Amino acid sequence: MARRNKLYEGKAKVLYEGPEQGTLVQYFKDDATAFNAEKKDVIDGKGVLNNRLSEFFMTGLTQLGVHNHFIKRLNMREQLIRACEIIPLEVIVRNVAAGSMAKRLGMEEGTPLPRPIVEFSYKDDALGDPLVPEEYIVAFGWASQQDLDDIVAIALRVNDYLSGVMYGVGIKLVDFKIEIGRVWEDDFMRLIVADEISPDSCRLWDIESGQKLDKDVFRRDLGSLTDAYTEVARRLGVMPSNVTHAPKPEIIN
Ligand code: TMP
Repeated sequence: MARRNKLYEGKAKVLYEGPEQGTLVQYFKDDATAFNAEKKDVIDGKGVLNNRLSEFFMTGLTQLGVHNHFIKRLNMREQLIRACEIIPLEVIVRNVAAGSMAKRLGMEEGTPLPRPIVEFSYKDDALGDPLVPEEYIVAFGWASQQDLDDIVAIALRVNDYLSGVMYGVGIKLVDFKIEIGRVWEDDFMRLIVADEISPDSCRLWDIESGQKLDKDVFRRDLGSLTDAYTEVARRLGVMPSNVTHAPKPEIIN
């Protein structure tokens, strides 16, 4: 087993040094957390599913010309990605009121929004990722106004793509979160979609039944998270059933 240098460990993923300059290996763990890690569990097979699903969505975005960090999948739990400088924002797009928006505004979950709404949270676990206005982002130098305009355009393209793909398999895309990174190509800075796109970072409701097929199943104790994610993968034709229980490769640090 190759020795890999661990660079960062988050709640759901680990980043290792990649084989070439400008690359990283992203490893998907089975760990699930919610409410800023107050609630934790290990969900057998989640990492395998999210690795495949993120590959599927990022590959689709590449085909549409939306630049992102995905290079190739390496194995059941790992993918090769472009190294980038993550902008410390959670970029959230909402089509339907749910979660923190529904709570904050006293709206009933499921209320359609008049148009997609893009909002930003500052990525800081100690502060609980607070919602921030664009003015803060520019004033504190996390991103320029031009970056923000570009980020909103990227987020809306991802929303159109993901909404369409999901609609095609009978799933409503309620909301999702992406992260954006910077890469430099010669003197040119490019913004790319980074992190992951998976049912951990989206709200997905079955159009017919309203059944939740995303991490709310874990957050709200609604049943088996693996079954929910497997159903999303099955509908998208992303992976055959039965492979989620593959053993984890042993990684020596
Ligand atoms: P929220 O309604 O809790 O603010 O979540 C909005 C979207 O962002 C939802 O699709 C879930 C996703 N999300 C994450 O990916 N990570 C997080 O830490 C949180 C709180 C939400």
